[in-house]
Amino acid sequence: MKVSGTLRVPGDKSISHRALIFGALSEGESRVTSILQSADVHSTAGVLRALGADIPGLSDDFVIRGRGLRGIAQPSRDLDCGNSGTTTRLMAGVVAASPVRATFVGDASLSRRPMGRVARPLEAMGARFDLPPHGGLPMTIHGGTLHDIVWNSEVASAQVKSAILLAGLVSGVRAQVIETNKTRDHTERMLEARGASVHIANDSVTIEAQSAIHALDTAVPGDPSSAAFFAGLAAIAEEGEIRLERVCVNATRIGFIEQLRRMGVTILEEERRLEGGEWVADLVISPGALRGGSVAERDVPSMVDELPLLACLATRAVGETVITGASELRVKESDRIAATVANLRAIGATADELPDGMRIQGSAGPLRGRIVTHGDHRLAMAFGILGAASGNSIEIDDVDCVTVSYPGFWRDLAQVCSA
Ligand code: S3P
Repeated sequence: MKVSGTLRVPGDKSISHRALIFGALSEGESRVTSILQSADVHSTAGVLRALGADIPGLSDDFVIRGRGLRGIAQPSRDLDCGNSGTTTRLMAGVVAASPVRATFVGDASLSRRPMGRVARPLEAMGARFDLPPHGGLPMTIHGGTLHDIVWNSEVASAQVKSAILLAGLVSGVRAQVIETNKTRDHTERMLEARGASVHIANDSVTIEAQSAIHALDTAVPGDPSSAAFFAGLAAIAEEGEIRLERVCVNATRIGFIEQLRRMGVTILEEERRLEGGEWVADLVISPGALRGGSVAERDVPSMVDELPLLACLATRAVGETVITGASELRVKESDRIAATVANLRAIGATADELPDGMRIQGSAGPLRGRIVTHGDHRLAMAFGILGAASGNSIEIDDVDCVTVSYPGFWRDLAQVCSA
């Protein structure tokens, strides 16, 4: 398989959600360009509209008229978060701090995901939650005035950290989150850029009591978690080169790129620049002799969404790859440990589940068969990349689930890849 060409992957999903939420909570007009127009981001837009925010239809360039920190209104319908954990958990922080009562609902996958992790800190701040016995959705939040909090993270999760910071922001109180393992920091960057008083230390983030944040334009950079698929494709190609333009290279997001480098892939970073508070660069990736590698708990947050892809690529490496400290993968859109290993085995690879990760053996043998995505976009794309490698033939049960984060994925794959 040969790769060639230049791609501009769609806008970063995490930054897209936050651009909408912070735009709605600001004073004044925020222009948003290059937002990711995917199902998950539409879910956040829909939830904000149900709460009275003025969010226009998503396009490549639009303006949000902010209603300020007290602008959230009582919804007249349930808040449908679709498949999106980020929508649910970040908006839980906003709703908990507003004088409203709202019920969050979602699809079957989201409804199974743990919400106690946001309920506990937000209850400690004074909100009230009704959760079903399994701790997922539907979840009803009785919001109101909250009080200060210092919260020790129970899990390394940017979604939980962001929920607490948003609750502090909207309620006008101080909130501190102590993290043992640093997670993506887009929320704190956006807060600072909009004039909030935020202190960032090695192991904690604190927002001081605010009465307002100001509007700000956001040009959403390319999503490193989407770019990862094409970096992985180039890594296992036989020849060629792929250029990925304007990718977000925020230090909390580039663990996968660093891991590929450790496993023998050459990735050049060109024209590194700061755009709207986030580092972006063009990445140039060419095939390398892939070696097995290891990923430990401290590395996980910076590549959490890329681990199923890494496991797929590991089947094409020389030697063994071991991923540990990644039990969070079991509570993503699917149980990504069980599903990745079962699918790798189904196509003839050698892989084993660990309680908190997986072990994959590299080989040059062809991989063939059908995989089951469980509607999980990242599994569909990871196995799509593996299926493009020479000698492999992989059928994917649900190719359409990529609309959650990367609607044009199959078109882009066809564009840069030839036999
Ligand atoms: C996200 C954080 C991560 C990630 C998700 C997006 C965010 O989840 O998996 O795709 O935008 O904050 P956790 O924070 O739960 O690990």
